[in-house]
Amino acid sequence: MGVGSFLNRSGYNRFMFRYGCAAVALALTIGCGKTEAPAETDRRVTGTSQERDIHSYARPDEVRVTHVALDLRADFDAHVLSGTATLSLQRNGSASEVVLDDKGLDIQRITGGGSDLKFALGNDDRILGRSLTVQLPPNVSEITIAYRTSPDAGALQWLQPSQTAGGKRPYLYSQGEAIFTRTWIPTQDTPGVRQTYSARITVPRDLRAVMSAEQLTPDGVETPDGRRFEFRLTHPVPPYLIAIGIGNLAYRQVGPRTGIYTEPAMLDAAANELVDLEKMVTAAESLLGPYRWGRFDVLVLPPSFPLGGMENPRLTFATPTIIAGDRSLVGLIAHELAHSWSGNLVTNATWSDFWLNEGFTTYVENRLMEVLYGVDRARMLQVLDRRSLDTEISRLGPTHKDTMLHLDLKGRDPDDGVNDIAYEKGATFLRTIEAAVGRETFDAFLRGYFDRHAFQSITTAQFLGDLREHLLHGDRQLEERLKVQEWLYQPGLPGNAVVPQSDVLVHVDEDVKAFAGGAGAASITSAPKWSTQEWQHFLGTLPEKLTPAQLTDLDRTFRLSNRLNAEVLFAWLRVAIRNHYEPAMPALERFLTSQGRRKFLKPLYEDLMKTDWGKEEARRIYARARPLYHSMSTTTLDPIVKSGS
Ligand code: BES
Ligand code: ZN
Repeated sequence: MGVGSFLNRSGYNRFMFRYGCAAVALALTIGCGKTEAPAETDRRVTGTSQERDIHSYARPDEVRVTHVALDLRADFDAHVLSGTATLSLQRNGSASEVVLDDKGLDIQRITGGGSDLKFALGNDDRILGRSLTVQLPPNVSEITIAYRTSPDAGALQWLQPSQTAGGKRPYLYSQGEAIFTRTWIPTQDTPGVRQTYSARITVPRDLRAVMSAEQLTPDGVETPDGRRFEFRLTHPVPPYLIAIGIGNLAYRQVGPRTGIYTEPAMLDAAANELVDLEKMVTAAESLLGPYRWGRFDVLVLPPSFPLGGMENPRLTFATPTIIAGDRSLVGLIAHELAHSWSGNLVTNATWSDFWLNEGFTTYVENRLMEVLYGVDRARMLQVLDRRSLDTEISRLGPTHKDTMLHLDLKGRDPDDGVNDIAYEKGATFLRTIEAAVGRETFDAFLRGYFDRHAFQSITTAQFLGDLREHLLHGDRQLEERLKVQEWLYQPGLPGNAVVPQSDVLVHVDEDVKAFAGGAGAASITSAPKWSTQEWQHFLGTLPEKLTPAQLTDLDRTFRLSNRLNAEVLFAWLRVAIRNHYEPAMPALERFLTSQGRRKFLKPLYEDLMKTDWGKEEARRIYARARPLYHSMSTTTLDPIVKSGS
């Protein structure tokens, strides 16, 4: 079922009909002749008057899920989770049915108040899946759904033993964001409906389960047919944060509330890389106020994990490619930790407000890097971020609507709207405000923002209301000067964007110039001591075209094709592809077949597909690597590699 039929769905029409132009203008700030969000911001942060989430069938104003209790068994032969989800419901008035989200679930039976309940599944939409509507007799406030997941549930990746570090046991992990949770849990899968959860998970005896929740049975409990683990999360979270990992997992404590789960074969390297975990939490607290989730553990996943990191509460999921051996990529953990405030404590109410999660987080991540590793490193990172922002805006075009902070995702998978804009434009906006009002004032606002909206899901319009009330204090001139409306609701980069400066990278710029002008690689005498960020900048700003002699010189002098640091290798491989530097091709193939992080895969396959010789290479490598990749990566890569001729 295509996008067109989604637009015609009754849910969407109802929204258009009920709210008409004003809401559309508020959400999109285009159409109906308006170019600005309305100044009126008297919407209370109750979750009832928010803009509707177009990516969920739920009607939380009528009935809302408040708690999910899972009792599931993992079948590694069938690649199925099966069991029950018991939902606690809060009813508003006389509502007689609850609407849930479901994608590909096999719903067997639904009970409540001691009897079977009637339920109906709606039409299947390619992006959204189906609505699951359950009839509620009076006084029933808890329903139990017996179900099984599909072997190709988008949220779940089932790995063969050969896809793990140990090579002997299978593995399962989930990825909920943005709208995958509905493929393994029948609930209201919208970030606007926060839910607490508990779980009993039964796994084969030699495996261990972890979740984004408090462990009630760290070693599990033996059952006749396996081992059962129990969990509980008492903080209400959006359902995309319910997460599970099952595998041969070992644990090592790093600090009083921090530690690492990973396969035994990876534990030493992971623990060595992440020694600063506890320090990071403390640094974040000094900036943002108390860490409210108890523990901050990290699960280092097998190489197919499609993301750098995922901020699952109490248990960040991370790619093994952060293990560079020199702790140079731990910024990624700072990013996921920052989400404990921006994202997990204060959450985007709809996916159009995604920048509230990622822009704030990217801003805070950089502040943490400054506290932990000094201002030079933080500035370098800002310059690198700014370059990717400029690249993204020119790739999309400065008037493209996907360069707005508040996104228009009508008829689209939220994953499609995800690009560097939410991250880098969002962070640049906050840095621009910080520069205008001063760090002290801005920090006070930031802390207050997290406190005022703790455990709430808010929209961009609500953020704007908060900014006006607590930072701008009604100063319209300041608001104009900051170009707040333009930042939030217009494409491109406003003229007042702060420009980051890094003295360290200015030196690298000089080296780039000298090398481009014909100086040999050996004359770059500072390079052997360069940080990852200096390398990223050097490789990222080299001229488009280099001669074969220059490429060989660089590679031989600095052994770039042999780098183990994923960011440096990635930046080098992009240079190598666009100049068709053959000697790097084995390293490229190794990289593409040994990890599945979409951020690395997408540009490399795109670069290959842009060249005549590379198309065939891309297809050949992809055919080999595809079975190793997560569906999030293949969904992105299939159209890229299959395009062109
Ligand atoms: N929350 C995101 C991951 C995500 C984004 C999942 C959109 C699904 C849809 C996570 O915090 C993130 O941003 N990860 C980045 C790393 C970060 C250092 C920029 C990634 O995976 O590359
Ligand atoms: Zn993030």
